[in-house]
Amino acid sequence: MLSESNNKTFFKLIQESTQEEIIWMCGYMSGLLLSKKNLKEFIKKEEKKITLVYGTETGNAKNLAFNIYQKAEKEKFKIKLISLDQYSMQNLEKEDYFFIIMSTHGEGEPPSSAKSFFDFIHYNKNLFLKNMKYSVLALGDRSYTYFCKAGKDVDKRLHDIGATRIVPLHKCDVDYETQAKKWFSEIMNFLKKKKIKLKTKEYMEKF
Ligand SMILES: Cc1cc2nc3c(=O)[nH]c(=O)nc-3n(C[C@H](O)[C@H](O)[C@H](O)COP(=O)(O)O)c2cc1C
Repeated sequence: MLSESNNKTFFKLIQESTQEEIIWMCGYMSGLLLSKKNLKEFIKKEEKKITLVYGTETGNAKNLAFNIYQKAEKEKFKIKLISLDQYSMQNLEKEDYFFIIMSTHGEGEPPSSAKSFFDFIHYNKNLFLKNMKYSVLALGDRSYTYFCKAGKDVDKRLHDIGATRIVPLHKCDVDYETQAKKWFSEIMNFLKKKKIKLKTKEYMEKF
């Protein structure tokens, strides 16, 4: 059964296609279905990776990241959630959608758990993240001189090394809940529009 929008697209395509094109499409689809392995590979290629990372000192970014992860799961998005001190930098070039929640500490510095990541992206001259689509949620406190500086720095640096910012940087003051909700909802809207809904597992289980 197709979703309403896919159904519309499908019938529009059929109406606008010639007989030869319809025959070609039938052949193509049956070829895919004949080989379960090919179908799985085809779906896998279409599947996009979504990663949510957090850099925290006193736990706020971590709590937010866990809440967001749970909400996204409820909406059937398959997301990898990981603390930046556990994150392997070799994966950066393979990321499709990369979301970062990062607080600022000291005097405009990243939290200690995010220091390696921060240094890696800033000082690695060969890093070019052309595949990555990203967005940053920066946590901070307006009473500090360098408000949300670590998050701002990460947002700028990723842009400078070729990644694409899909939702603008959101800066949060101490009462971060509302701004964080806005950030998350902008991301969800973007992913839904792009149809990055990963129900792939359920789909593949039918075959
Ligand atoms: C010692 C200390 C230094 C801080 N320095 C800054 C700062 O320079 N700029 C800023 O915007 N916020 C600063 N903050 C505020 C934190 O970024 C804010 O409380 C944030 O929500 C903490 O998130 P976390 O628990 O995930 O680390 C500082 C907080 C502390 C305790």
